[in-house]
Amino acid sequence: LLGRRSSIYKYRGYIYPEFIANKTHQIHFFKTREDDVWIVSHPKAGTTWMEEIVYLITSDLDFKTAGEKTLEDRIPYFEFEYPGLQHIKNMPSKRIIKSHLPMSFLPNDIKKTKPKIVYVARNPKDTVVSYYHFHKMLKVITYSGTIDDFVDSFIDGKCIYSPWWNHVLEAWKQKDNENVFFVKYEDMKKDIKSVIREVSKFLGKSLSEKEIDQIAEYTQFDKMKNNPMSNYSWWKESGFKDGQTDFLRKGIVGDWKNELQQVHVHAIDKMVNEKLAGSGLVFEDSI
Ligand code: PPS
Repeated sequence: LLGRRSSIYKYRGYIYPEFIANKTHQIHFFKTREDDVWIVSHPKAGTTWMEEIVYLITSDLDFKTAGEKTLEDRIPYFEFEYPGLQHIKNMPSKRIIKSHLPMSFLPNDIKKTKPKIVYVARNPKDTVVSYYHFHKMLKVITYSGTIDDFVDSFIDGKCIYSPWWNHVLEAWKQKDNENVFFVKYEDMKKDIKSVIREVSKFLGKSLSEKEIDQIAEYTQFDKMKNNPMSNYSWWKESGFKDGQTDFLRKGIVGDWKNELQQVHVHAIDKMVNEKLAGSGLVFEDSI
């Protein structure tokens, strides 16, 4: 998938690019803190949306800083090359950290320090469509396949951070742990204010209805899409092909209906039926 500029590796059942595979040791032994907040997800689950929400909740609605620093600067992407583990290690508390690693590959001592973890999951059809469009945008991933090829790879568990079903199931199994909050993108789309209220409770903050309204408004899709501090336009030159900036692409549930062929819809349904059977984890893919 990565083309000729990089290699991909399978490690403990998941697919990773070279820059992650190269630092498994540092990841395992990274020191976490009790007061960290981790936002964890399979890519394209709605992570960025949740990041802005968690930032505003933990910062007591610091809209000023939110408007001055990019999300990536406020919330580092743990396993990514920028800003890097050394930088994250030295960040003052309280750190908010984003990661796409599966629960089983988060640093070892997370089991001991038990920081709060917000895990976001999204139905696989919209996830794969969003993931495909993202691959087409990225410079570093020289993906030249069609959406059909991409969906085949996703179903075969061959995309980066695949297999999707293990990723979501690992988190789902921990959903009743005191330090884990499992939330679905579809529920965020249905009733974001309820989700903001629940997340704030989980993070030990009590927000007024006015504050919940303010966060909901600030994190509306169009607002975030037009906000240079949340729309990844800072990746425009270095990260995206042809200066594209469509990181916040459509932000809806059910876009797969416009993009996926029937054969792939059936194949994903089959995958879900087989892999999530008996887990109690169910996704709505149209609302
Ligand atoms: S990443 O790169 O994995 O961190 O991407 P991630 O943020 O998880 O997922 C990107 C998709 O989330 C949508 N998004 C939103 N939807 C609704 N409201 C808001 N505020 C919002 N912010 C991001 C984004 O548009 C991507 O989905 P698609 O379907 O591609 O539009």
